[in-house]
Amino acid sequence: MTRIVYVNGRYVPYGQAGVHVEDRGFQFGDAIYEVCEVRDGNLIDEPRHMARLERSLGELRIRRPMSVQALGHVMRQVVRRNRVRYGLVYLQVSRGAAPREFYFPADDVVPTVVCLARPLAPARGQQNAEQGIAVISTPDIRWQRRDIKTVMLLPACLAKEAARKEGAREAWFVDPQGFVTEGASSNAWIVDQDGSVITRQLGSDILPGVTRATLLDALEAQKMQLIERPFLLSEAYAAREAFITSATQTVMPVVRIDGRQVGDGKPGPVALGLRRKFHQFAAISSA
Ligand code: PDD
Repeated sequence: MTRIVYVNGRYVPYGQAGVHVEDRGFQFGDAIYEVCEVRDGNLIDEPRHMARLERSLGELRIRRPMSVQALGHVMRQVVRRNRVRYGLVYLQVSRGAAPREFYFPADDVVPTVVCLARPLAPARGQQNAEQGIAVISTPDIRWQRRDIKTVMLLPACLAKEAARKEGAREAWFVDPQGFVTEGASSNAWIVDQDGSVITRQLGSDILPGVTRATLLDALEAQKMQLIERPFLLSEAYAAREAFITSATQTVMPVVRIDGRQVGDGKPGPVALGLRRKFHQFAAISSA
């Protein structure tokens, strides 16, 4: 349960927290965010999340509301005040509130900052990982700057809702050429029949996942074969293993894609091994 939320300089009870009705995040999706894993009370990969946050702000020319250190302090306070040991901390920055107008508002409009933390049951995540999850595929109808972590998430909501209706937990977006871009809220990976780990290379068509970056370090340290390239949905159907990565799920095995069994239909050794070792390669900062 979330008890305390940070809104524009104040820590307020959850039920009383709110932003202006003309906040540009609310009206235009003119806002960016980060989701950081909290594990044993610590923030996981905070420097990478903060670097991506700064990049998102820069790409959209949203003023940085405070220093990265101060934002880190807010995240820590919110984690502590909510006594979250396992879960997530969510930080959102919008361009601010101004009378509705497409042009950017005047420079004196202050960005809106919201931060909340929420516990997640680690046992449930582990249970999902032991069973593996199902995904469906769906056309990628998002905009062309998916490298920016904006709150314009309606295509992702539609895709995940469609997945849920099919008994799946995630949707994989597919580009017009039939290549998988990424998940609605995760990066997508396969392991081919030779044991190579394959994931799409970075570019404007996917989010540069923090978990993805840390997993690349893990693969390198373990001298595992990695290929960064687009893969076809048909390759994913025929893969030995598949999995997704995100801050809230770390490495999650995929055992069904569009109702077809991946490999032997059980979580594979590569995905499970990477999941087990993931935090050895992540940056851990105490909250
Ligand atoms: N989603 N791709 C998309 C479209 C995402 O929304 C996410 C994360 C990722 C994985 O990024 P990371 O490893 O940095 O979490 C990839 C977060 C968790 C969310 O929106 O809740």
